[in-house]
Amino acid sequence: MKHLINTADFGTDEILALFERAKRFKEGYITPTLEEALIITIFFENSTRTRSSFEVAAKRLGAEVVSLDVAKSSSSKGETLYDTAANLDAMDPAAIIVRHQNAGVPKILSGYVGCPIVNGGDGAHAHPTQALLDLFTIMERFPDPGGKRIAIVGDIKNSRVANSNVELLSRFGLDIILVAPPHFMPRIDAYRKTHYLDEVLDDVDIIMSLRTQTERHTNQIYASLKDYATDFCITAERIGKRDIMLMHPGPVNRNIDIDDAMLADPRCKVLEQVKNGVFVRMAVLEHLIA
Ligand code: NCD
Repeated sequence: MKHLINTADFGTDEILALFERAKRFKEGYITPTLEEALIITIFFENSTRTRSSFEVAAKRLGAEVVSLDVAKSSSSKGETLYDTAANLDAMDPAAIIVRHQNAGVPKILSGYVGCPIVNGGDGAHAHPTQALLDLFTIMERFPDPGGKRIAIVGDIKNSRVANSNVELLSRFGLDIILVAPPHFMPRIDAYRKTHYLDEVLDDVDIIMSLRTQTERHTNQIYASLKDYATDFCITAERIGKRDIMLMHPGPVNRNIDIDDAMLADPRCKVLEQVKNGVFVRMAVLEHLIA
């Protein structure tokens, strides 16, 4: 039984094969390979697009989708996570997609169910399908991404998106620069790090901006998000005419993470990421289930 808990669960060739499938889907070659499969999504934490992206992906492949409304589910009545999992499992799903505010929950659940678990984001730990769709989007522009430079900018320390991308993108040979204020900088030494965004702009091919994860901070770190934006917002003025591909996993804090002008700029690939997310998740689900 194969699960997708973090990006390291998939080998490099396996990922390239997934991307070939995703590309075919994007070209319109879609057949209902998951007809009659039941896929359950259970999101203990809010989600703007990941949940709908998984649901659209499952439906495009002909699967039936049941989304557990956690607020109304028995977890809020005191049922343990394991009992919830065992009960879902008894309905014989083909896969369960789970998001949880605590790191490690999808991994633990994988020991209690008889179907693949897909991690839709757990705490600050991992968000593997986001990193996969990010790499897919990068490779549309740079088919051979080895040696390309990417600046990951923002609240890196609290970001599961950053965590998963650092593993995946470094494995595919991208050169990673971490750009963050001291409080958002993780304590890893393997990568070039700086507190000054303007210092790296002439060196990078790609910028991945991240949202400030205020819900994961125990105390307010920056005086205000506006102060943060002064130093780290990706603005048209900052970027100028540089040929930099701009990414963000969403949800974007407008004019804090990225300004209005850059969001409307053709160099910004945010909506392309969302579009690709469906195709990549289709490939992931098919790979794990079919
Ligand atoms: C991210 C998440 O929830 O981890 N969003 C997403 O899934 N596209 C990033 C975030 O919340 O900032």
